[in-house]
Amino acid sequence: MELVKAADALQAQGNQVIHLSIGEPDFPLPKPIEQALARAISEHKTRYTSALGLPELREAISQYYQSNFQVQVPAHQIVITSGASAALMYACLALVNPADTVLLADPGYPCNKTFVQMAGGIPDFVQTDEAQNFQPSWGDLLAKWTPQTAGVLLASPNNPTGTQLSKQAMREIVSGVSNAGGFVIVDEIYQSLCYDRPAQSVLQVTGAPSEQTPLVVINSFSKYFGMTGLRLGWMVVPESLLPAIERFAQNLSICPNTPAQWAALTCFAPETLAICEERRKIFKARRDFVVKALPEAGIEFHSTPDSAFYVYAKSPYDSERYCKELLNKVWVCAVPGKDFSGFRGSEMMRLSYANSMDNLETAIERIRLFNQGKAM
Ligand SMILES: Cc1ncc(COP(=O)(O)O)c(C=O)c1O
Repeated sequence: MELVKAADALQAQGNQVIHLSIGEPDFPLPKPIEQALARAISEHKTRYTSALGLPELREAISQYYQSNFQVQVPAHQIVITSGASAALMYACLALVNPADTVLLADPGYPCNKTFVQMAGGIPDFVQTDEAQNFQPSWGDLLAKWTPQTAGVLLASPNNPTGTQLSKQAMREIVSGVSNAGGFVIVDEIYQSLCYDRPAQSVLQVTGAPSEQTPLVVINSFSKYFGMTGLRLGWMVVPESLLPAIERFAQNLSICPNTPAQWAALTCFAPETLAICEERRKIFKARRDFVVKALPEAGIEFHSTPDSAFYVYAKSPYDSERYCKELLNKVWVCAVPGKDFSGFRGSEMMRLSYANSMDNLETAIERIRLFNQGKAM
């Protein structure tokens, strides 16, 4: 955030800053969603809905799981939320008691620790590295498990690394954690932005969450469907958790954004999915480009990102200093690793390719010149 402020100041002085710091797609809202949103507003679909969300949308998501992932998730176990953010908050409030510890992967999404802390819990970080694709195994989690551990919160694909858990790892984690009497929250917000194999869900391994499988799956319309500012996501929960989630939703936000919910019904129409797939291919082309160009520019990374729109790379020296100098000398804005990692944050940085190919080419050329000491 500090760097983005500094970047804005440089931009205001007339410098052409290129952001490799962006955490959202750089495309406009897909046309069918935009039109459905305008229609919802002109038809006055702007009042509160049920706290759990529009029944039609819960049903559409249930069908999406069936058609895209061949998994049966009853609509009543799907809750619509104000982005993945509210879903993460409700999940933590419902599952974490004061003084419980919750295992989080490091590096990971920085807000996760806040959701745990809001519920009175204590985040306990599990260090991961490039050799394991920055995703923990059940063995890593077990090594940190104590009588105070209530459960695990993971993201697959993950931010900042753009790497996924394998289905086998998901299977081992869910079965290990449930045998230990804990819960598993899996954030699948980047699920459909993946480039080397079909999108996957932990639900394909476990089936719908149940008493035997204390699992909560989080998802969002923000990334693949490009609806970041419309604040809409969803969560899949065991039936036993529904009353608690409903009370949190009623009390904390009343309901998710109503016009956005009506607009989201078009997300699963073939014409919208065709646009989102086209954009996924554009992200893949950018991923292929940056993965090849960055090492040639002197930036190393040792785990190939196969999803999301981030590369978690080694910084040539202390990442906070490097990112500041990169911004001030060549107007390229990257994010130092300390935002995502308490262990090796100073060695790492996150580069986002949610930017046009022209900008990516220019940014990486500037990085190359900077690294070779040839920049202005
Ligand atoms: C891993 C992860 N989870 C959750 C979120 C929050 O997303 P939303 O816009 O759906 O609230 C983000 C946003 O960047 C994210 O990267």
